[in-house]
Amino acid sequence: MENLKGKFALITGGGRGLGKATALAFAKEGINVAITGRNQASLQETVKEIEALGVKAAYKAFDIKNFNEVSKAVEELNKEFGSFDILVNNAGIGVFASVMDMDVDTWTDIINTNLLGTYFVTKAVLPQLIAKNEGDIINVSSTAGLNGAATTSAYSASKFGVIGFSDSLMREVRKHNIRVCTLMPSTIATDMSVELKLTDGNPEKVLQPEDFAELIVANLKLPRRAMLKSASLWSTNP
Ligand SMILES: NC(=O)c1ccc[n+]([C@@H]2O[C@H](COP(=O)([O-])OP(=O)(O)OC[C@H]3O[C@@H](n4cnc5c(N)ncnc54)[C@H](OP(=O)(O)O)[C@@H]3O)[C@@H](O)[C@H]2O)c1
Repeated sequence: MENLKGKFALITGGGRGLGKATALAFAKEGINVAITGRNQASLQETVKEIEALGVKAAYKAFDIKNFNEVSKAVEELNKEFGSFDILVNNAGIGVFASVMDMDVDTWTDIINTNLLGTYFVTKAVLPQLIAKNEGDIINVSSTAGLNGAATTSAYSASKFGVIGFSDSLMREVRKHNIRVCTLMPSTIATDMSVELKLTDGNPEKVLQPEDFAELIVANLKLPRRAMLKSASLWSTNP
């Protein structure tokens, strides 16, 4: 069983939704947490909630589509807290429309946020995990990364891309004792899924952010080389 207490995690998109639930679940395990996003108010509020659970917390507000901003934020967090042990690439956007109806800027924005953003943060954090010869990277894809649907061309392309990136990264960094997991959740009740009318959020019918966070924590506690296969939600290192 891996001991998580005292580790330091970076969670992108940690001010709300799945990222926030994961941040709070990490804090309950004694993990110090840094969160990122663009909305300063929700980040500040979440940091207070994390700190109330007795761990260190920090936030940086920046646009994940800008590599310079990403690497500056990671550098500043490292100066404040030391190096990271866990990275959760969670930030993402979902906009659905047909190829004909979606404008080029929106299509590009989805790819740049979900796929390039995941690559940018990984690129900025990876050297410190390699240096300590240990780490966990958790990349949030989607069932939309396994199957396309009418109106999801950009979102699916980005989430298929996250799986390809993640699978390649896993093979590249396993020699450094870095575990890379890809999550492919279906609908979970968050602002994103409710706003997109994918669910009414009814806890009787749909997974809640806390359920998702619990699965991440459970996976991190597994012996490093262990595999966890739970429906289509996870794939992890063989
Ligand atoms: N909810 C679901 O049903 C579901 C299912 C499968 C996969 N997912 C994936 O799970 C992840 C989290 O989803 P969620 O439902 O929690 O969505 P959410 O509530 O909308 O949260 C998305 C997060 O991403 C951050 N973000 C978005 N664009 C950003 C940018 N350009 N720069 C920096 N941060 C940015 C947001 O931060 P700010 O608001 O502060 O900018 C926010 O914290 C996403 O990758 C999503 O695709 C969700």
